[in-house]
Amino acid sequence: MAEQHAQLTASEQDSKPRPMSSRKPIRKAVFPVAGLGTRFLPATKAIPKEMLAIVDRPLIQYAVDEAREAGIEQMIFVTGRGKTAIVEHFDIAYELENTMGERGKDMAVLDATRATPGDIITVRQQVPLGLGHAIWCARAIVGDEPFAIFLPDELMIGNKGGTGCMKQMVEAYAEVGGNLISVLEVPDDEVSSYGVIAPGEARGNLTEVRGLVEKPPRGQAPSNKIISGRYILQPEVMRVLEAQEKGAGGEIQLTDAMAKMIGQQPFHAVTFDGRRFDCGSKTGFVEATLALALEREDMGAEVRRMAERLLAN
Ligand code: G1P
Repeated sequence: MAEQHAQLTASEQDSKPRPMSSRKPIRKAVFPVAGLGTRFLPATKAIPKEMLAIVDRPLIQYAVDEAREAGIEQMIFVTGRGKTAIVEHFDIAYELENTMGERGKDMAVLDATRATPGDIITVRQQVPLGLGHAIWCARAIVGDEPFAIFLPDELMIGNKGGTGCMKQMVEAYAEVGGNLISVLEVPDDEVSSYGVIAPGEARGNLTEVRGLVEKPPRGQAPSNKIISGRYILQPEVMRVLEAQEKGAGGEIQLTDAMAKMIGQQPFHAVTFDGRRFDCGSKTGFVEATLALALEREDMGAEVRRMAERLLAN
């Protein structure tokens, strides 16, 4: 990456929240999906981890549905080798639809997988240099607009009758503008696995972000509030990423680039009113599967009986 320093211009540095009408809407979302998924081997040897299903929907589908619910129109997948199944998933499967049609099967299950041409765009991350680098790979498609980021490992499910995480963030964005990240509290012994915020003033579900640190050593975290995989960022972050040096784990970290935006532009954290499952871990994945199966009308009662039977043995 070029060795240039990201100087924000005077207008970019304007930290006063702009009136709602002058705020550009969030139309684009970046999904970094180039990771190897080694934690789920051998399941992920030949299929992307984002295609692992919670009940009957792959993880990537949950993230795209959440984006659509928030009004986002264009999905940018930052992919790598071996990830074509993700793109196939959002394409029209002609043979499948034809056969289902001939057999009179209900094709509504495929509705959420249909994308209008141009809605799904892929860029490749050719070398695994970290999350910050993955986001930077999407810079040409993001252009000069604020954009969202979804880490599909983090499954965010709205409460019954409530809205999804990104929709809550877009609503907060309409109020405060600038940059937003979703946060939640985790126990002390888990904090060092995540990006962590130094919180400032809090109001409702919004907390001002005064500092950010990626994977702080044990005992050195500024709080228990961790970044939980949803972001709304201003396009200037791409220029910061351009010059970003390696951080925690020897990777180019998005968190380090975001930390440089604090003080230059408004920066807030949104506490999601809903549930989060860490599907990057096996136990989190199983928990999500159980939780979502138990609340399904078509199978919840049966799954509950099965679980009770298993626990009794
Ligand atoms: C990434 C981010 C981290 C965030 C986490 C959420 O870390 O770098 O700030 O808290 O996702 O899951 P990773 O899980 O890729 O190590």
